[in-house]
Amino acid sequence: MKRSDLNFGVIVLLTLSTLYLAITGILMDWLGLHRVAFHNYVGYAWVGLALLHLGLSWGQMRVHWRHRFRLRHSHEPAHSPSLPSSSRRQWLSSTAALIGGFLMGLFWPVKQAAPFIQSQEDIDLTYHQWSKIGLAQAGGALFHWGQQPRRYKTYAEAVSVPLPEPREQTQLSFEAVLNQRRSRREYTDAPISLEQLSFLLQAAQGITETLGEKRSVPSAGALYPLEVYAVVNAVENLPSGIYHYAVQPHQLEQLKAGDFRRSIVSAAVWQDFLGTASVCFVITALFQRTRWKYRERTYRYVMMEAGHLGQNLYLAATALGLGVCAVGAFFDDALNDLLGLEGETEAAVYIISIGQLERA
Ligand SMILES: Cc1cc2nc3c(=O)[nH]c(=O)nc-3n(C[C@H](O)[C@H](O)[C@H](O)COP(=O)(O)O)c2cc1C
Repeated sequence: MKRSDLNFGVIVLLTLSTLYLAITGILMDWLGLHRVAFHNYVGYAWVGLALLHLGLSWGQMRVHWRHRFRLRHSHEPAHSPSLPSSSRRQWLSSTAALIGGFLMGLFWPVKQAAPFIQSQEDIDLTYHQWSKIGLAQAGGALFHWGQQPRRYKTYAEAVSVPLPEPREQTQLSFEAVLNQRRSRREYTDAPISLEQLSFLLQAAQGITETLGEKRSVPSAGALYPLEVYAVVNAVENLPSGIYHYAVQPHQLEQLKAGDFRRSIVSAAVWQDFLGTASVCFVITALFQRTRWKYRERTYRYVMMEAGHLGQNLYLAATALGLGVCAVGAFFDDALNDLLGLEGETEAAVYIISIGQLERA
């Protein structure tokens, strides 16, 4: 086979593989896919073909450049014998293709690829691996992802219920609190006081430092993605209903009035002890509050923070001599519906029940 025939074949293959790579690349960007069949292999083949083409055309190119930059020896002809000169139209169309491709890359709507999950793969493990701190995360200090939402959520239309100042009301030593902390599910009918509720809310999310408005729980970047709702069943001087805790004024906002014991029990996979609790705190997360800064680390951080909040409630309730139990088993949609949340921007992540214990 003649060298020029081989080179012609290589050029045809290069053109075909370039088309394939362009089409599959655009599809991947557009549809947020991780892989399109053979994209990688064709990519490697393209590099091989390009190198081969370079090797086959090397002599021709050398002669051309020597003429172009007048490096030719005196005995060589004045015009390049190898390559025909290009027309103005060819120059213009090459420049247009270059600029067009660049602009397309700049403005083409790119979907962020979802993590690729094999059918037999464990999604927890996949997320854990995917969310390891990498270059993108390190760049988080420079680039932000989306809008930073408001730091405080309030229900402007809701009836506000002031809470008593959270004051010191426990006698147990810290060691005793740690030792006595248990998950307790047997509650009496006796209500808890409004002071106790105020103390518990302060422990869950209350502001403890005016400077920087830092709270009782640690939070990644002090971004505070969590909100606290209370399904109230038996609290002195507080009608039963569903309330939102407005952190900054330290007050409750009444979202719904009435008896929601059955709803919380059925939302929590029919765990009936929740129906006997004085109050069930439902912890929700507004993910974007953390995501705009920490992106893939968000889910890790939010869950860690829910754990901090839960433990604060455990310790605060134990110190008050109240029973407390964490509940992670619930029907997400039913619980979000109960709070009137759509479940994506903000979603329920944890329930903590609190009730009076039988006096020994
Ligand atoms: C994330 C999490 C989810 C839990 N979910 C439930 C639950 O759905 N129902 C329940 O009765 N207890 C639940 N618990 C309480 C555990 O059963 C309890 O912590 C465990 O039995 C250890 O007992 P202790 O808390 O008394 O030390 C949960 C605890 C955690 C930390």
